[in-house]
Amino acid sequence: MAQTRALIAGNWKMHGRRADLAAIPALAGRLGPAPGLDVVICPPFTLLSAAAEAAAGGPIEIGAQDCRAGDDGAFTGDVNPSMLEDAGCAYVIVGHSERRAGHGETDALVRAKAQAAQAAGLTPIVCVGETREQREAGEALAVIVAQTAAAAPSGGPLVLAYEPVWAIGSGLTPTIAEIEAAHAAIRGALVSARGAEGEADRILYGGSVKPANAASVFGARGVDGALVGGASLKVEDFFAIISAHPAFGGS
Ligand code: PGA
Repeated sequence: MAQTRALIAGNWKMHGRRADLAAIPALAGRLGPAPGLDVVICPPFTLLSAAAEAAAGGPIEIGAQDCRAGDDGAFTGDVNPSMLEDAGCAYVIVGHSERRAGHGETDALVRAKAQAAQAAGLTPIVCVGETREQREAGEALAVIVAQTAAAAPSGGPLVLAYEPVWAIGSGLTPTIAEIEAAHAAIRGALVSARGAEGEADRILYGGSVKPANAASVFGARGVDGALVGGASLKVEDFFAIISAHPAFGGS
């Protein structure tokens, strides 16, 4: 398989005001012009344009946290991928478990969003992951394979994020062996769903990635980077995670 360029994305979730965008030049300064891996920050909708301006010309790219699949129209409160692209985004997270659980998003809807993102020239970051009950029932791999097969369209770039629901914001993480098994299963599902494209897709791990565990997560076979929530809100912590990746060479 071709060498994969690592990607580390920070998901700010529903946090951030304009003053917090100072994190972008601060982090860019720490990363240097060629950090050796892709770094993405996903702030809330309100900050996307200003974040893209703050990141322009530097090593950080901007992503959104959700989108609506479809053209402009009478959809109060929604934002489509073309608008995100216009705001300066290169990525969009789709199917995060907080949206699946809190907004009833199905695999079919996540797939439609991912497809719409690809059509607008964005790279979707499609999230999959099992609940605690599913893991305890021995269903984790079957669940994430089914989610990947159903939610990952072919026909454009795609990033997959394995985020066990029980690991998000909890301080808990799977064992390295569990992460490796999940990533191998997802790779198989991506290749089945997307053919040759699926061999090159990056598969991120997400769920309680911190400076203290980042190096061991990045050392796991099949892990091409991370999707980081809470620890991406502090420049120090997010930089510590990025600099724990073996591909990092910016400073
Ligand atoms: P966490 O969130 O790093 O705070 O666990 C990860 C995510 O939800 O993407």
